[in-house]
Amino acid sequence: MSTNRRKFLGAIGATSLVGSIATQQANAQSQPIATTLSNSERELAGKVAIVTGARANLGRGFAEALAKHGADIVVHYHRESTRDQAEETASLVEAQGARAALVQGDLGQVETVMRTFDTAIENFGRLDILVNNAGAIVKKPMAEVTDEELDRMININTKGTFLCMREAARRISDNGRIINIGTSLLAGMAPNYSAYAGTKSTMEEVTRMGARELGERGITVNTISPGPVDTPFFHSQETPETTRFASNLAVAGRLGKISDIVPLVEFLALPSSQWITGQTIWINGGYLTR
Ligand SMILES: NC(=O)c1ccc[n+]([C@@H]2O[C@H](COP(=O)([O-])OP(=O)(O)OC[C@H]3O[C@@H](n4cnc5c(N)ncnc54)[C@H](OP(=O)(O)O)[C@@H]3O)[C@@H](O)[C@H]2O)c1
Repeated sequence: MSTNRRKFLGAIGATSLVGSIATQQANAQSQPIATTLSNSERELAGKVAIVTGARANLGRGFAEALAKHGADIVVHYHRESTRDQAEETASLVEAQGARAALVQGDLGQVETVMRTFDTAIENFGRLDILVNNAGAIVKKPMAEVTDEELDRMININTKGTFLCMREAARRISDNGRIINIGTSLLAGMAPNYSAYAGTKSTMEEVTRMGARELGERGITVNTISPGPVDTPFFHSQETPETTRFASNLAVAGRLGKISDIVPLVEFLALPSSQWITGQTIWINGGYLTR
């Protein structure tokens, strides 16, 4: 992007966003997603989904939306201290008339991955959809990324995502869906995200290979890559100034909302998305057009 364009975008954002950033942060975990569908519209009835990292935010939105279409949901959450949030996600799933089961743990550990998939089979008898949503972020110049931070990014963004895809390849039903949550940084040249974007980049390649390997069973594998979304995950790394900059990357001059991202996952989970596989789909309000 040219310097002039940056200046222009910065100027128009400065007036519209200054007062809204704190409100955006406060509201990030409570953006309403689902509305009720009639029984005949519940195309995922009888199907079962795992949503990783679903205690709140995007994962919660995905879980609630798939439940709206009738899927039973395994609500995975990471830290035991967030169980009450995961229970709230489960309640929202149940409010849609679907069943929910909770599972906790670090998905960089094979044992947690096995337990998560066992939870789907033992509680609901099958697995049809995996939403690989769990992820971790650090925003720092490459030269300052610590060994611990790099290990943490690799652990979930690369290893945990791959382990869940591998287990899905073993256990998911024919015509299943694997939906990975990437980042628009995979197509950008944003500084200070090397560890985050670098460790997320593996999923794009594995998506293509997985789509080939599993396609003859009708299973689709895709990565969706959001731009900046108004959740604490994003705000934890940003200042008001960088938030303004990120907001103005989208043509609408605002951050993405959970409700902007959920419909794409919803669509990819439905039977009508069958012809879309092996793709990285950019969902960022026009910030990137790759
Ligand atoms: N917000 C954005 O701007 C944005 C933009 C593009 C893509 N994304 C992607 O969207 C996904 C969801 O992000 P979000 O904004 O909704 O934030 P979020 O709620 O913090 O989601 C990340 C989830 O991953 C879990 N997690 C982290 N490390 C884990 C591990 N080792 N094992 C299992 N789970 C782990 C976190 O649990 P704990 O909090 O308990 O650690 C959390 O529930 C992430 O993959 C992120 O990369 C976000």
